[in-house]
Order: sequence, then C-alpha cells, then structure tokens
Amino acid sequence: MKDKKKIKWGIIGLGNIANQFADDLMLVQDAEIVAVASRDLEKAQGFAEKYNCKKAYATYDEIFADDEVEILYIATPHNSHASLAIKALQSNKHVLCEKPIALCFSDAFQMIEASKKNNKFFMEAFWTRFNPSVREAFYKIKNGEIGEIKYINADFAFQAEELEGNRMTDLKLGGGALLDIGVYPLFLSYLMLGIPKEMAAKSNFHKSGADLQTSMILQYDNAQAVLHSSFLSSSNMKATISGSKGIINLNSPWFMTESYTLIKDNKKLKYKLPTKGKGFTYEIEECHKCINENKIESTLWSHQNSLDLIKIVDEVRNQIGLEFPL
Ligand SMILES: NC(=O)c1ccc[n+]([C@@H]2O[C@H](COP(=O)([O-])OP(=O)(O)OC[C@H]3O[C@@H](n4cnc5c(N)ncnc54)[C@H](OP(=O)(O)O)[C@@H]3O)[C@@H](O)[C@H]2O)c1
Repeated sequence: MKDKKKIKWGIIGLGNIANQFADDLMLVQDAEIVAVASRDLEKAQGFAEKYNCKKAYATYDEIFADDEVEILYIATPHNSHASLAIKALQSNKHVLCEKPIALCFSDAFQMIEASKKNNKFFMEAFWTRFNPSVREAFYKIKNGEIGEIKYINADFAFQAEELEGNRMTDLKLGGGALLDIGVYPLFLSYLMLGIPKEMAAKSNFHKSGADLQTSMILQYDNAQAVLHSSFLSSSNMKATISGSKGIINLNSPWFMTESYTLIKDNKKLKYKLPTKGKGFTYEIEECHKCINENKIESTLWSHQNSLDLIKIVDEVRNQIGLEFPL
C-alpha cells in the first residue's frame, strides 16, 4: 500500500508540553517533525536529536522563514500566542496554537483574521475536544441520552510544586490558574451548554496579581455549571454532566480521560476508550484532515468556538479583576 504524504511540522517553544506533544506526533503515521526552534540553540539541537528532526534553530524567526515547514505548533507562554501565530500565518504556515488561544478576545480575533486573510489552517490546540471519550459522551448527550442538562461540575486543580519564578504566576506571560487550567472546565461547560447568560467568579491571588485559584458559576436558562481551577490543592479531576434522565461522568483526569460512566435507570455502565499516546494524536489527526481538505478551520473546534471561549474567559477576568500588563 502506498504511504500517505507526510505533513511537515515545525515546533516552537521547546518546553514541557512541546516534548509531550512531540512524543505523540511520533505516533501519527503521516506526521513528521522537520524543524524545531528555541531561544537556545543547544536546547533546540537536543530536542531535534530526540525526535529525529533534521533542523534546529536558535531563533523563532528562522523557523518562520523555513518553507519546508507546513504547519507550526506553538507551545510558548500565553502572552506570545497571538504575535507568533500571526507571524506564522503570514509566513504561509498552518498553525496549531496551544490553549488559551490568546490573552483576550481582540488578540484572538486578529489571529483568526490572519488565518482567513492568508488562507491557512488555524486551530487552538484544545486537545480535549478530540478525546475519544469526550467525543462519544458529547454525542450521546446531544442525542438526549441523559435528557436535558441541568448541572455541570468540573474542575482542574493540582498543588503546584513551585509557584515562584515560573510562567504560572508571571502576569507578563499571561500566568494564573484561569488561563492555564481554568479554561478546561469553561471549555466543557461551553461545549455542553454554549455561552452562559450570566457568570460569577471569585479568586485567591498570588502577590504577582496572577490568580492562584478561581471558582466560577455559569448561569444558563435551565442549567448551572459550577467550575473550579487551582494551583493550590488537588481535586478529583472528575467531570459530571447531570441531566433530567441520567448522569455522565468523565472519569479522572477528565480532560484526558480514557473512560466515561453513564448512570441511568438504576444502572451504571463504564465505557472504556483508551487513548493513542497521551491523546494529542487526535488533534494532530484533525489538523491533517483539515489541511488535506484545504480547510482553514475545524468543524469540531472552530474559529468561532475559540472566540466564544476566550470571550467567556474575558468575562471571568473582568469579574475577578485580573488584568495583564500591556
Ligand atoms: N495541552 C496541554 O495539555 C497543555 C499542558 C501544559 C501546557 N499547555 C500550554 O502550552 C503552552 C506552554 O506551556 P508549557 O507548560 O510547555 O510551558 P514551559 O514548559 O514553560 O515551556 C514554554 C516554552 O516557551 C518558550 N518561551 C518563549 N518565550 C518565553 C518566555 N518569555 N518565558 C518562558 N518561556 C518562553 C520556551 O521555549 P524555548 O526556550 O525553547 O524558546 C519555553 O520552554 C501554554 O500555552 C500552556 O497553557 C498545554
């Protein structure tokens, strides 16, 4: 059988998630890493060697200028997503940009305008949207399996080992629990129920001004979501979607789950869907599908979905008084 044409990836920002993502990229048959870029040449060379990639750059500009790179994965801190994604799109590259799409709605809007103007695929890397259990549970919920959704409870919380001197509490880099992990429970509520009518939120803050934990209530016409994100203490990381006819639990850790449980009619059924790799494989495959079909956005996680989600995040920020320096 003839091999499928490989899609040529570049990666910038070679930190924690770039390594995990590259591990999964190696599992996708028609993916190939052709170039990586770091602010540090040695780091880039080490990464390139680990993933059998032939080009390692010491500046991000060099990877933008590399015509072999078809799609760029941006894995840098939040404050740089917008400028780097726009540059990449203007350099004729498709873009998969880590979550959150940007610091605010207006930056995200410009990124999407750049995708349209340059006719290049762009997607926020919301990998949970492509998780097999989340997809199947969502499908069942949309088809009425648990009736009308009345309540969602989801969190993303862990006790951070070190909060000082890293991007998590650095406001200049778009730090804070809300943008780092609070976007996950907000994503789930948005996916299931759409844009809320009203929101309330409260936070505890680091001395830098970044939020250390944020709790949110999202109010819908006939439903509520109670959501939480924290760097201060751990949670069960299970998500519950409760409807008029039953409950679906996305089992822990729900944002990268390998199973979900349906509780209905006095029965409890567990559905197991093991992920390929850690689960980044599915968003990678979605990028390939869209690129091969000449689409500039995914229907599963569209430009509008990212814009809606960042608008919700903006409203939470407004409620808790979290501002990023210009
Ligand atoms: N999808 C997920 O599951 C997941 C999980 C964790 C994080 N993320 C997201 O991925 C992005 C990166 O997070 P991470 O945990 O990988 O962060 P990280 O370990 O700190 O890595 C970020 C990388 O960005 C580059 N960078 C560019 N400008 C920087 C600056 N001013 N300060 C620090 N680093 C800078 C650095 O790479 P070079 O030195 O190579 O240039 C750094 O290694 C964020 O958007 C985060 O929300 C997603």
